[in-house]
Amino acid sequence: MTRTPLIAGNWKMYLTKAEAVALASAVAAASKGLSDREVMIAPPFTTLAAVKEAVAGSPVKVAAQNVGWEKEGAFTGEISPPMLLDAGAEMVIIGHSERRHVFGESSAMINRRLRAALQFGLLPILCVGETLAEREAGSTFTVVEEQLAQGLADVTAAQMDSVVVAYEPVWAIGTGKTASNAQAQEAHAFIRAVLSRLYEKTLAERVKILYGGSVKPENVDSLMAQADIDGVLVGGASLNAGAFERIIHFQ
Ligand code: PGA
Repeated sequence: MTRTPLIAGNWKMYLTKAEAVALASAVAAASKGLSDREVMIAPPFTTLAAVKEAVAGSPVKVAAQNVGWEKEGAFTGEISPPMLLDAGAEMVIIGHSERRHVFGESSAMINRRLRAALQFGLLPILCVGETLAEREAGSTFTVVEEQLAQGLADVTAAQMDSVVVAYEPVWAIGTGKTASNAQAQEAHAFIRAVLSRLYEKTLAERVKILYGGSVKPENVDSLMAQADIDGVLVGGASLNAGAFERIIHFQ
């Protein structure tokens, strides 16, 4: 089974337009001619269109960091799937731990966002992952399984082929503390087993599962060597052109 690796950058709430265009141009240059791996960047909403323009003609895909669940309407502060497509996004990050834990997004909300993305043809990256307290309490697998089951409720097998899953242990995000290769591989294998139960084995074998949480040039090669790690979702290091270039070119 070959799953094309996906190297994804999550820019979070960083960069003005000029800064975003400069970084996007550098990522496009670093990705030129790559065919054995995919590259994606997720800038803030305000720079999506400019970033899309900056990567035109390169294989770099552009993603949003969240998505509203209706086509339009009285939903102050939300951005709809058609609006994201119009701005040039092809993919969208959904259920990031900062959305869950800083902004209180529930699994029900995350499921609505994910189904809306699929309905309008945006490819979702569903993030799951346990907090430090949950890991120490021994409930990592229960938490991850619940987030998967609830996030993917009413998602059909045909739709599931367009979904990417990202395992991001909350304790590893922005902390400099990466999960060990073994911890990450164990969680990824577990996620694939849950997907086999929710769908079926051959489908689960096709789903890309990304690891996120303090991915850096120093640890990307060994993480990517794990059997069930099909890519990385990179926060901090994706804001540095040189570091992200090295991560794109993992060996
Ligand atoms: P980090 O963030 O690489 O800065 O830990 C990862 C993420 O939040 O997606």
